[in-house]
Amino acid sequence: MKNSFSTPEDLLASLPRQEGILEPYSYQYQGFWYSSTVLKSLIDCQNQFQARENDIFLVTAPKSGTTWFKAIIYALINREACHPQDPHHPLLKQTPHQLVPWLEYVAPLDNNNLVSNSLDSSPTRIFGTHTPIVSLPESIMEKGKIVYLCRDIKDTFVSLFHFSNKINFRPSPISLENAFDLFCRGSSPSGPVWDQILGYWKKSHDKPHKVLFMRYEDMQNEPRVQLRHLALFLGKPFSQEEENSGLPDQIIKLCSFNTMSNLEANKTGDFLGVVRNDSFFWSGVVGDWKNHLTVEMGSKLDQITEEKFSGSGLSL
Ligand code: A3P
Repeated sequence: MKNSFSTPEDLLASLPRQEGILEPYSYQYQGFWYSSTVLKSLIDCQNQFQARENDIFLVTAPKSGTTWFKAIIYALINREACHPQDPHHPLLKQTPHQLVPWLEYVAPLDNNNLVSNSLDSSPTRIFGTHTPIVSLPESIMEKGKIVYLCRDIKDTFVSLFHFSNKINFRPSPISLENAFDLFCRGSSPSGPVWDQILGYWKKSHDKPHKVLFMRYEDMQNEPRVQLRHLALFLGKPFSQEEENSGLPDQIIKLCSFNTMSNLEANKTGDFLGVVRNDSFFWSGVVGDWKNHLTVEMGSKLDQITEEKFSGSGLSL
C-alpha cells in the first residue's frame, strides 16, 4: 500500500487536519483519524510488516479494553510455558503492553526492518493495534487471526476523555464538551469509532475463521464462556484436564482488573517513555458513563450508534 509522497511530512501536509482529542492535531488518512506519530508508524507498517501464519492480532478502538485482552490472550497462548499461578508469570512483572507490542507504535529499526518484524522467534506472535480494517498491512488479511474487541460507545468515550487529560499530550486539557463534539464528528484516534467497529463486524461475518468479534461487557458478564470461545477460535481450546484443574478461572483471575491494577509493574513506570502505566487502569466498570455524561449526551451517542449500525445486525 505504498503512497507517492517522498517523506511522511509531505504526506501529512496533504491530509485533512483537525483538533485531536488526545493530541493537538489529528490527520485523516484512508478515512480515519490519527496523530502524526501513529500515522507515520502505520505507514511504516503498511509498507514493511509481514504477518506470519500463526500471528494473532488484537484490534480495538482505543479505551475499549485493549490492556485487559492483551493480558488474556498472552496468558491463554503461553499457558503451557507459564502457568497462570506461577509466581514468576511475566504478567506479574511486566505490563501487557510490554508483553504484547503495538503494530503502529513501534519505531522502525532501520529502513527495512520494523521492530515488530524481528520481535521474537516464538511460533505465535501477538500484536495489538487500533488500525481499521481498510488500513491493515496487506499480509494480515492473508495470514494470522484477528480478535476484534469492542465496548459500549459511551463508556469508550468517557474512558478516552479521562485518558486524554491524564496523558497531557495536548497544550491544555480538553473540556468534556469539546471532546464529545470531536468524538461525535468521528475525530477520535483511529475513528470514527463506529466505522472502525463496522469494518470488523462485517469481516467477522464474511470470514468467521479469520475474525472473532468480542465485547468488553460479555467478558465482564460471562468470562468463562467468552474465554473458552476465544481459546477455541485461537486454536488452543482448553483440555478436559485444564478445565478440571480450574485453569480458565486462574487466567481470568490473573488478568482481572483487581489483580492487574494492583501490580507494581502496572502502578509505576511508563509506556514508551510517554504514558504512565497506571493510565491504562481507571475504574473498569460497565456503565460508568452515567457518572460523567448528561442523559442528553448519552442519548446522542446512542442515536449516532443506531444510525451508523442500522441494517448491519449489530447493536451496542
Ligand atoms: P475505564 O477508563 O472505563 O476504567 P484500553 O486498555 O483499551 O486503553 O482500555 C482502558 C479501559 O479498560 C479502562 O476503562 C480501564 O480501566 C479498563 N481496564 C484495564 N484493565 C482492565 C481489566 N483487567 N479488566 C477490565 N477492565 C480493564
